[in-house]
Amino acid sequence: MRKQRIVDLLLSDHSCDAVEAQGWVRTKRESKDFSFIELNDGSCLKNLQVIVDAQTTGFELMEHVSTGAALKLRGALTPSPGQGQKWELKADLLEILGAADPSYPLQKKRHTDEYLRTIAHLRPRTNKYGALNRIRAELSYGVHRFFHEQGFYHVHAPIITGSDCEGAGEMFQVTTLDLHNVPQKAGKVDFEQDFFGKEASLTVSGQLAAENLACALGRVYTFGPTFRAENSNTPKHAAEFWMIEPEMAFADLNDNMDLGESCIKWLIAYLLDTCRDDLELFASFVDTTLFPTLETILNKPFMRVPYAEAVSILEKAPRQFEFPVSFGTDLQTEHERYLTEDHFKQPVIVFDYPKEIKAFYMRLNDDDRTVGAMDVLVPRIGEIIGGSAREERLDVLERRIEEMGLPKEEYWWYLDLRRFGTVPHAGFGMGFERLLMLVTGIANIRDVIPFPRTPRHLEF
Ligand code: 4AD
Ligand code: MG
Repeated sequence: MRKQRIVDLLLSDHSCDAVEAQGWVRTKRESKDFSFIELNDGSCLKNLQVIVDAQTTGFELMEHVSTGAALKLRGALTPSPGQGQKWELKADLLEILGAADPSYPLQKKRHTDEYLRTIAHLRPRTNKYGALNRIRAELSYGVHRFFHEQGFYHVHAPIITGSDCEGAGEMFQVTTLDLHNVPQKAGKVDFEQDFFGKEASLTVSGQLAAENLACALGRVYTFGPTFRAENSNTPKHAAEFWMIEPEMAFADLNDNMDLGESCIKWLIAYLLDTCRDDLELFASFVDTTLFPTLETILNKPFMRVPYAEAVSILEKAPRQFEFPVSFGTDLQTEHERYLTEDHFKQPVIVFDYPKEIKAFYMRLNDDDRTVGAMDVLVPRIGEIIGGSAREERLDVLERRIEEMGLPKEEYWWYLDLRRFGTVPHAGFGMGFERLLMLVTGIANIRDVIPFPRTPRHLEF
């Protein structure tokens, strides 16, 4: 007998005398002669309704069947007279694979997100987090499909790095030195004795590696974990998150904006197509405006506004911001959300930021004041994509590195790209968790990643 996933059983186009299902008990209802079990195996949101009666071998085990227990069931898949499901399983065999201790915490129908975070090992068994994890998997697959179809090669950037891509210094150090007995030389830590013979960290972005490969393969992307030791306890920052970073040779800022916009649209359409049931759960219980929001993103071209114009809109806004804004200030989430939610009511791409607030590698514009940077802003989240045209002119790049006080010698290989066949190129980074927040309506990044890492929180 073939073991079947519940998703396949529920989609069956015919009844069947002998099927086998395995899964976890969501609920059990007992009447005098028979019992109903709602069984879920994680393959889809819906449960399989199972009927167990006195004829079922193993019927006497029913008293040990409780919420959370793992069961194996065999029997006939028959049309269900009940509402809401096409098929049910009339069991002729019941086996308990693993009983659930009565202390199983997921007894109630609804738990708060805060409580579920404290049981991260069990929360994927709830409807909401099961759906989230399936959407996460499908979205990840969609990312690869989109870039593959657009002619991008998937490349792997290193996780351990010797350089600070953003120059922002929010890095986790990687070391094998004994922190209780750190070797010193001339009053400083002697990194010569460390594993790599120099300082190493976890990557904050795969961009610089992607640039190297784009300047050989044309179009590439990375999709991997990135790490930031920002001590910001916000609903949209995690210390470990996944980033999608495409990089294109022979491309400018407009190409970059086009790619970012089409990527978000394609992925939303893909999910609406492949994860309808799971998304409906979020539209019903998490954000009732979810589908209209996604439709707006799909149907309207993204607004494209220079930073200077965005700032003047914010200065005139009939709203008091916590952080005042003027030309030269970095936009805060409240500003970003005002632009996308209140002013334009659709996604916005802000571009041409002042050079002082952006990274050294962004291409200097002719005005000598702004760089070819772009941030894509979406409702409820604010920035979802950050990217730029890259400075491909050797002399300008060297000047920028010096101006920003960065160690030029460490970027020798990055400068080499500008020495040997330099080309205009551009790319961006899209936070995978922020994308998941956008498509599910989930408001906290801790709830879109199975095991979130945030300041002072590291469970297993
Ligand atoms: O804007 P960021 O810092 O850009 C870069 O890292 C560039 N090197 C990317 C590139 O051009 N290849 O980060 C890019 C995106 C942000 O827009 C945001 O969506 C996400 O990464 N992000 C975070 N997501 C979760 N937690 C954090 N702490 C994040 N920091 C950035
Ligand atoms: Mg950014």
